[in-house]
Amino acid sequence: MLHELSNPIIKTLVNHLRETKTDALRFRHIVQELTRLLSYEALKNEPIEEKSISTWQGEQSFGFIKEEDLLFVTILRAGLPMIESATALFPQASSGFLAMKRDEKTHQSILYYDRVPECKNKTVVLVDPMVATGGSLCDAISVIESKSPKKIISLNIIGSPEGMAILEQKHPDVDIYIANIDVSLNENMFIMPGLGDAGDRSYNTPE
Ligand code: PRP
Repeated sequence: MLHELSNPIIKTLVNHLRETKTDALRFRHIVQELTRLLSYEALKNEPIEEKSISTWQGEQSFGFIKEEDLLFVTILRAGLPMIESATALFPQASSGFLAMKRDEKTHQSILYYDRVPECKNKTVVLVDPMVATGGSLCDAISVIESKSPKKIISLNIIGSPEGMAILEQKHPDVDIYIANIDVSLNENMFIMPGLGDAGDRSYNTPE
């Protein structure tokens, strides 16, 4: 199911990403802030488990999210600031990495590295800032599904209506939390108006 966030803080942060004057450091910082806001929304119904902890009043029981059951997975390289932010919130969660590259002619994503561990009993949270054609995210979901997770959630910053439609059609069970769905894809499969290439913007490489 698709959840586009309507919060004005989120919209403002996304629109700062569009500004060319936003340099790589601030770009990554905003991506990290957005990841936190998306996480709050996406994990608001996660079960809380009572745990006995030592406090200034002695041993007491309090509720915590079971971080060990969370597995964050990102797609290199634009997703790196997102996974850093998510795992800073949940330091006991595990991480997995996929590397994909879009072929510039066919626009198909090609998987060339898979370091995602077994996903049994895990809530897998996929983090990738951009959903253009939706090909990379669909392929990443298929890789994760083959590792038997309990649930898959996707956190994304900006997407196209075309990419969203494909995801809803191919993976209706996946909950997608996205900060903004833009207007369209252009003939080069770039999101319009978009923000350029999030990987290039994050790491100062030419577009
Ligand atoms: C971007 C982005 C997604 C993918 C989305 O990565 O981070 O992974 O494109 O495009 P799609 O929906 O059409 O598959 P890119 O291939 O530009 O690599 P990068 O992260 O190294 O810049």
